[in-house]
Amino acid sequence: METLILPEESNKLSIYEAITPQIQSLLEIEDDLIANMANMAAVLKEALGFFWVGFYIVKQNEADSQELVLGPFQGPLACTRIKYGKGVCGYTWQKGETVIVPDVDAFPGHIACSSLSKSEIVVPVYNNGKIVAVLDVDSDELNMFDEIDKKYLEKIVTFLFE
Ligand code: SME
Repeated sequence: METLILPEESNKLSIYEAITPQIQSLLEIEDDLIANMANMAAVLKEALGFFWVGFYIVKQNEADSQELVLGPFQGPLACTRIKYGKGVCGYTWQKGETVIVPDVDAFPGHIACSSLSKSEIVVPVYNNGKIVAVLDVDSDELNMFDEIDKKYLEKIVTFLFE
């Protein structure tokens, strides 16, 4: 697949319905994690026009503890390291479940990489029962994420380790 095929209707549900199988096919032919995360971020950005979309990957740091480190993404430059429990990403890692934040200014401890970011969804990426990364999606509008985003993004990230 070289070109993304998008539906004529531009509602979120039909876009997710169209891109989910295309992302699955794209990832089936490549097993490099970084390459797959990069294309996944690109497809989500192109299809859904998110302000920022990308991954933070769980890595060992020099102090021999784990933290989230910036991975493949699309959008403005971002913070590179996030500690366990910190910000929406660190909180999602700690909680082990998707977190939807309708208004980032109302989320205690939100890490503002950009003041333009207004709402956010963070989805944990599991491999063999352990969180190995999170997918972070930011919008420059309030209240942009709901159960539709949660359902499809949770499905899409499973393709990384199938
Ligand atoms: N807002 C995130 C940090 C990452 S950036 O938005 C790209 C957080 O609070 O974890």
